[in-house]
Amino acid sequence: MSATTARPARTVPPLVHGIAGTTAFVTILAFWTSTVVSELLADAATVAAVKLTIAWGLLLLVPALAVTGLTGFRLAGGSAAPLVAGKKRRMPVIAANGILVLVPCALTLAVLSARGDYGPTFQAVQTLELIAGLTNLVLIGKNIRDGLTLAGRLAATG
Ligand code: HEM
Repeated sequence: MSATTARPARTVPPLVHGIAGTTAFVTILAFWTSTVVSELLADAATVAAVKLTIAWGLLLLVPALAVTGLTGFRLAGGSAAPLVAGKKRRMPVIAANGILVLVPCALTLAVLSARGDYGPTFQAVQTLELIAGLTNLVLIGKNIRDGLTLAGRLAATG
């Protein structure tokens, strides 16, 4: 069979999609927990180091989200399955939340903490970042659950 007649659903290994999606989830979980733990327990220098590490971590998160989305739509092909429709609906919210909220928040927090500025702006941006991060963890978690169900690795919960 020539490449032009191959079905789109077979052009991407599901494993690549699954690994990229799981990487996005684990990255946000690491950002979230390191933020909460450092701000509750650590000194300002440690908080600043965590904020800088998170800013660099965007270089992992953003490509992981992009690869997940692109490979997901390729895998889905023209499928009208309800689980696929749900994943398609969540993906733009996940992407917008990541690119429009998490990225600017992470960069702002890295700059402010490097200056030792933990004032009201830092607090507000930090709160927004934690809410957006939690929202994405829930949405990405649902996409992982539905993906594993579609792949036959998890029993459908109905
Ligand atoms: C952040 C978003 C997403 C995450 C974390 C995610 C995660 C996963 C995971 C973990 C799997 C199981 C892979 C395996 O075990 O082989 C999977 C499968 C799948 N995903 Fe996603 N996914 C996401 C977005 C999407 C989107 C936007 C689509 C497009 C509609 C999509 C379509 C699929 C399909 C069709 C499968 C089944 C692949 C197969 O036939 O085995 N996913 N996904």
